[in-house]
Amino acid sequence: MNNSTQGKVVLITGANSGIGKAASLQLVKKGCHVVMACRNAERGQQALQDVLAAGGPGTAALMLVDMSSQASIRAFASEFTARHKMLQAVIHNAANFDLTLKKPERTADGVETIFATDHLGPFLLTQLLLDTLKASAPSRVITVASAGLMTYPFLDIEFDNLNGERKFSAQHAYYHAKLAQVMYTFELARRLAGTGVTANCVWVGNVAIPDERIAHLPGWMRRLYSMKRKFALTTETMAATYTWLATEPSLKDVSGQIFNEKNRPVKTYKNAYNPQTWERLWAVSAELTKTQN
Ligand SMILES: NC(=O)c1ccc[n+]([C@@H]2O[C@H](COP(=O)([O-])OP(=O)(O)OC[C@H]3O[C@@H](n4cnc5c(N)ncnc54)[C@H](OP(=O)(O)O)[C@@H]3O)[C@@H](O)[C@H]2O)c1
Repeated sequence: MNNSTQGKVVLITGANSGIGKAASLQLVKKGCHVVMACRNAERGQQALQDVLAAGGPGTAALMLVDMSSQASIRAFASEFTARHKMLQAVIHNAANFDLTLKKPERTADGVETIFATDHLGPFLLTQLLLDTLKASAPSRVITVASAGLMTYPFLDIEFDNLNGERKFSAQHAYYHAKLAQVMYTFELARRLAGTGVTANCVWVGNVAIPDERIAHLPGWMRRLYSMKRKFALTTETMAATYTWLATEPSLKDVSGQIFNEKNRPVKTYKNAYNPQTWERLWAVSAELTKTQN
């Protein structure tokens, strides 16, 4: 066990499957206390049992949150801060990539579901945990983007289409929200400079998705996922980058970067590096989550 990670509290959303579950397992092996934040009690409980059964010097606990619901995120954050005085890393892994969505659906907060879950949820959760993160410095915020963004080289934040009011496809909404996470990470890193809290983003490549996660999809989509799986990274490989970003001591002062599965920094397209867009996105996100700008 590494003394620098022993007992460190790491919160990871969407921890009941895929990369999030694999990362939970690795972090427990490193001695961390992992809070597995999941939306479904049964799936979460099963994942917690699996993680604990794999063993390790660390510990894990399940907490429930629906990242598409601001009320749920607020309730979660107040329960979390009541239970934990320290938080060394939060990993915003949960995401909605339901490609069967044909038209935009709105959450109870009136926001398109994919944007709500994949961008506003992480934004709000970080804001609510910021005092705890600062009190725990050095600490880290880790966001999750997608290498698939490279297929959208001209994408920018569509302030007139945040809810898919002008045009919508689930795939477009997903990559738009992931681009928002990249820009949010840059702006968060800028705002947190000097606080001891860093913000970095993971550039997730093509990672194997098991059959049970895609069983509800139409046949052509399942075939596409099966084909992609032949060239896919394992969840463990990708999770190792989450684990590295959450625990590697030498990254203490590294902030505002994107890292791939080889733990190498990557650059994305030009639009992502416009500080005016970062600021505008921040202001809109604060307004939509009723938090301070
Ligand atoms: N797999 C890839 O090829 C790939 C590529 C690029 C980026 N990524 C990113 O990597 C991350 C992990 O994906 P994965 O491949 O591990 O997929 P996954 O196994 O489907 O994991 C997604 C997790 O997010 C959770 N989630 C979805 N909506 C939620 C909500 N409203 N509230 C709370 N949790 C919610 C899911 O919970 P449920 O079990 O309840 O649905 C699940 O635990 C995501 O951010 C994804 O965008 C993946």
